[in-house]
Amino acid sequence: MECPKEPLESQCSLSEMDDFDLTRALDKPRLKIEMKRSFDERSFVDTPLSYVRNSFEPHPMVAEAWEALRRSMVFFRGQPVGTIAAYDHASEEVLNYDQVFVRDFVPSALAFLMNGEPDIVKNFLLKTLQLQGWEKRVDRFKLGEGVMPASFKVLHDPVRKTDTIVADFGESAIGRVAPVDSGFWWIILLRAYTKSTGDLTLSETPECQRGIRLILSLCLSEGFDTFPTLLCADGCSMVDRRMGVYGYPIEIQALFFMALRSALSMLKHDEEGREFIEKIVKRLHALSFHMRNYFWLDFQQLNDIYRYKTEEYSHTAVNKFNVMPDSIPDWVFDFMPLRGGYFVGNVSPARMDFRWFSLGNCVAILSSLATPDQSMAIMDLLEHRWEELVGEMPLKICYPCIESHEWRIVTGCDPKNTRWSYHNGGSWPVLLWMLTAACIKTGRPQIARRAIDLIESRLHRDCWPEYYDGKLGRYVGKQARKYQTWSIAGYLVAKMMLEDPSHIGMISLEEDKQMKPVLKRSASWTC
Ligand code: GLC
Repeated sequence: MECPKEPLESQCSLSEMDDFDLTRALDKPRLKIEMKRSFDERSFVDTPLSYVRNSFEPHPMVAEAWEALRRSMVFFRGQPVGTIAAYDHASEEVLNYDQVFVRDFVPSALAFLMNGEPDIVKNFLLKTLQLQGWEKRVDRFKLGEGVMPASFKVLHDPVRKTDTIVADFGESAIGRVAPVDSGFWWIILLRAYTKSTGDLTLSETPECQRGIRLILSLCLSEGFDTFPTLLCADGCSMVDRRMGVYGYPIEIQALFFMALRSALSMLKHDEEGREFIEKIVKRLHALSFHMRNYFWLDFQQLNDIYRYKTEEYSHTAVNKFNVMPDSIPDWVFDFMPLRGGYFVGNVSPARMDFRWFSLGNCVAILSSLATPDQSMAIMDLLEHRWEELVGEMPLKICYPCIESHEWRIVTGCDPKNTRWSYHNGGSWPVLLWMLTAACIKTGRPQIARRAIDLIESRLHRDCWPEYYDGKLGRYVGKQARKYQTWSIAGYLVAKMMLEDPSHIGMISLEEDKQMKPVLKRSASWTC
């Protein structure tokens, strides 16, 4: 293909945090309420003039992005069912980039929904639901019934004129990693489809209801857990290689929370549904408490951890996870602004991963896992640490990178994840749509505007790469695919949301109104 030339001041009070009013959900169906809410959101997010400015003269990249997105569409028996990960003919190694990845399709799906083209999304949801029903094995081991594929591929036989599908549930994936995020994204997308089209008939089918329940059974079953967070292996989400994100990674916890809330709004209150609704309500209650308290880091909290005593036994322990203050990396002390905060990467016994992860923090805002104060603090941090977290190309997947000995130990000497590259501090344009959504939700569209300007100065010229390398994200990634679909779709979604902020309703869940404090506009709103 031709490439064209060109301080959080407040510690939220525990009772406030704990007061998640979910009990009502046990009594009445949520969906109708949710549908009505989208109108409330429409009036709540009024359109500042800065949005309108661009809507008259669409950036030339927009038309090209649509063209590229349409080129990536995959058909099964004549019906569009998804988009391939990358349409990069120049690349020698296709690997699995010619497949439809569940997580990669999400921004494509949102772009189609926002453009009033829901059919491809419906087909995708139904096709992946069918795949969920397959018997899945890795060698001789049978996987859980509810597991959704990481990706699938349509094979066209031009002679017999037949289409068949092959799917990967981790059994072919590099490293045999489990796609834990796929099921969560599927539920989140089903809600987005329902919300955007108003078509309740899809989510209410017995097949979809069963699909939701099967996914939930995988993560709501009782075991040996002492925490409400979901225990995972390394590489089970967007970061699909060993990167020290095993345990309780923020990305999965935020998606888990959002999927639980989305499922709650769609599950029928029949006998089978009710059982799950009750479990969800309890889990959300515990999960939000755990995350908002133990994963949250701001200046005050950092100072507290710095002064922690260790080896405390019993219920009265302050340092519940026995984190050793010596394990706090030096960079955090300089990085943490007086105003601002974020959800850290991971929390488990004697292990706090202090790294910043963009996806998890944005999804925490969108799902209202973050309290309004916490959401504001995350945006404050982004503004304060723009150079580190955004640099010249939005958005760092995580910060900082790991190097030298630590890189050897943590990644297993992974040459693709060297410092400031790929998953190890690389910059991923796809994350722009989540940042934009978070900006709109928190009333700070000017931050998104700034990020979009950066993208528009390069992405098209560089042929829509998958990721960028370097401390500032200045270099096209060493092994980055070109024409990476989610980089393209992410840009379109960001543009459409900024032009019409009411789109946010399909991918955002409001804080329960009962506990919602008055929204404080940041001083940067008018910048
Ligand atoms: C890489 C990414 C993964 C993505 C896939 C397809 O493996 O790490 O997140 O889904 O490529 O684009």
